[in-house]
Amino acid sequence: MRIVRVPLGRRSYDIKIASGLISKLGVECARLKLGRRCALITDPHVGRWYAKPAYNSLSRAGFDPALIVVPAGETAKSLKSAQSCYRRLAAHRLERHSFVVALGGGVVGDLAGFVAATYLRGLPLVQVPTTLLAQVDSSVGGKTGVNLPAGKNLVGAFHQPRLVLCDLAVLHTLPLRQLRAGLAEVIKYGIIYDARFFQRLERDLPQILQRRAATLAPVIARCCEIKAAVVSQDETESGLRAILNFGHTIGHGLEAISHYGAYLHGEAIAIGQVAAARLSEQFSSLPAADTARITALLKRAGLPTTVRLTAPARRRLLAAMQLDKKVRNGEIRFVLASRIGKAAWGRPVPAPDLAALLTSHA
Ligand SMILES: NC(=O)c1ccc[n+]([C@@H]2O[C@H](COP(=O)([O-])OP(=O)(O)OC[C@H]3O[C@@H](n4cnc5c(N)ncnc54)[C@H](O)[C@@H]3O)[C@@H](O)[C@H]2O)c1
Ligand SMILES: [Zn+2]
Repeated sequence: MRIVRVPLGRRSYDIKIASGLISKLGVECARLKLGRRCALITDPHVGRWYAKPAYNSLSRAGFDPALIVVPAGETAKSLKSAQSCYRRLAAHRLERHSFVVALGGGVVGDLAGFVAATYLRGLPLVQVPTTLLAQVDSSVGGKTGVNLPAGKNLVGAFHQPRLVLCDLAVLHTLPLRQLRAGLAEVIKYGIIYDARFFQRLERDLPQILQRRAATLAPVIARCCEIKAAVVSQDETESGLRAILNFGHTIGHGLEAISHYGAYLHGEAIAIGQVAAARLSEQFSSLPAADTARITALLKRAGLPTTVRLTAPARRRLLAAMQLDKKVRNGEIRFVLASRIGKAAWGRPVPAPDLAALLTSHA
């Protein structure tokens, strides 16, 4: 088993990475010295495979879990779902020492995390992420939240988990498209932080796509280490943490103008990362050869790298980017790379240059 420690003082926690961790969920939770009653929150796709082993593991270790199944998909990340979770927590009489287990992808993690952050002003949270994206990204860092009709993740809280269990075996049931989408974030860590890791991905991609545990374990561990390193230096997102948003300004814009329908998040940021690499060539001297390597690796991972936009769609995209949380004084700021393995945040890109890029990017 690999263990990545997230150093956050009193709130430090471990991310454990291995095959078969769900069957050890109960034993792992017992080590945390929490109350007997708990809630196991999942969705039907994940629950179908893993609710029973997780539930049984908790019961065997002496816990009394309430199984809560929320709908699958982004629409479940709502105040309405949160409320139905609160109702179940109250019915199961969860109290201060009780805890919440989030068993699922980023949607379940964000929702269950938000419920844990807010019920009784905060219950301990154990994350059991079941998508590659959740294992390398959403379960690390402490951001939780739900969507409002006005936009994504508009209500939320920082709430660090007490433990994260990444079970590599669960990735075998993950749809291939979802696995590929998670790889977009994996590749991102190489670009922003670790050139040798990027090289390793170039070498090991075939085994990763085959979901070989021996290959995935060090890859997921490295991603968690990088995210943990970045987050622990900047827990509440004032500066450094922003480099995690490489490719996300354009990616979020694409998601918004397609109404979160056409692209998975990872697909949108794959396109966004290639665009950000092009901007990096122009504004932070990224060698063209690095852009070519980034594009090639994303393509080999089965991700889209270009988008063909009509003129009105381009205008909508630019407008959507202006609404991004990262915009200051109307200037769109980007995370740009100066080489593979090194990125910096805060480079303002003039709107005409951005428009020109989007025109030539088809
Ligand atoms: N909190 C953060 O820091 C953070 C970071 C990145 C993304 N997010 C959030 O994460 C969400 C996206 O998460 P996601 O990509 O994991 O999507 P998701 O949770 O919707 O999961 C994708 C699909 O795969 C299914 N699934 C999950 N694990 C499975 C498995 N092992 N086997 C079979 N099916 C499985 C799910 O039921 C769902 O249908 C977004 O809401 C995003 O805002 C949060
Ligand atoms: Zn992302």
